[in-house]
Amino acid sequence: MTETTAPVVHRGAPAGEPLLHADDLVAGYLPGVNILEGCSLVLHPGELVGIIGPNGAGKSTLLKALFGLVGIRSGRLTLQGDDITNLRADALVRRGVGFVPQSNNVFPSLTIEENLQMGVFQTPQKFHERLEVVLHLFPELVKRRKQRAGALSGGERQMVAMARALMPEPSVLLLDEPSAGLSPVRQDEAFLRTRRINKAGVSVVIVEQNARRALQICDRAYVLDQGRNAYSGRGRELMHDPKVIELYLGTLATDVDAARDAEAPPAPRAEPRSGDTAR
Ligand SMILES: Nc1ncnc2c1ncn2[C@@H]1O[C@H](COP(=O)(O)OP(=O)(O)OP(=O)(O)O)[C@@H](O)[C@H]1O
Ligand SMILES: [Mg+2]
Repeated sequence: MTETTAPVVHRGAPAGEPLLHADDLVAGYLPGVNILEGCSLVLHPGELVGIIGPNGAGKSTLLKALFGLVGIRSGRLTLQGDDITNLRADALVRRGVGFVPQSNNVFPSLTIEENLQMGVFQTPQKFHERLEVVLHLFPELVKRRKQRAGALSGGERQMVAMARALMPEPSVLLLDEPSAGLSPVRQDEAFLRTRRINKAGVSVVIVEQNARRALQICDRAYVLDQGRNAYSGRGRELMHDPKVIELYLGTLATDVDAARDAEAPPAPRAEPRSGDTAR
């Protein structure tokens, strides 16, 4: 008989009541097709928690389910102990949850300042006070605040999207791949900025393709695979876990090697000697 061991779902999580608790979520887009097949996650006050996993694992779907954008079919979601399962996104914003989607996350025809104004459309009286706080976190945006968001680079748009999500003063920020499509230098900036926002008191859930970098900055992380929890633990522990390396990080190393080889100038072609065989 083969013994199946269920993964320890919240390895390394601190004691006490979580701020956000997703318990055994089943969710999907099309009737009868579940993308999340029982996903769980806890976020404790002050934590920076990562979600990594292969393409199509359901990482974005999990974030969308946490933010009321994908229907939860079973399981339970709580915020500070209150049941918020299937609460709509606008109600979640009022309760202090912010979300930055993976793409299409700014209003391109509006200026930076107008984008930030949209962030507090439920509490417009807070605009000036919050603008000052948020621009302090994103000094790069100050001079450009009257420019249209559509004219910005990918990295700058990402900043605007994050800044907009911070305008209503969320206690929980859900970030979907803030480093996607950025140059390595800009990626580093995005990770450092995320860490800074977290240090400023915002609890963060971050989904990342750049798994190694995410594990470096996270307190804890979850590895998702095919809509289920596969591994969890402290960021640096997961980085050195042979199974996680083999299954989820090893491919990255292979990809990097392959990319480097592809960039290398072609080696001079030697005429095949007789007796050489194709490998
Ligand atoms: N709007 C949608 N309608 C139907 N199926 C969808 C929709 N969005 C995503 N899916 C499907 O859900 C599954 C999980 O997708 P999801 O975007 O959550 O993965 P992911 O882990 O975020 O992947 P990636 O690393 O590529 O961003 C995929 O099979 C995808 O095709
Ligand atoms: Mg995704």
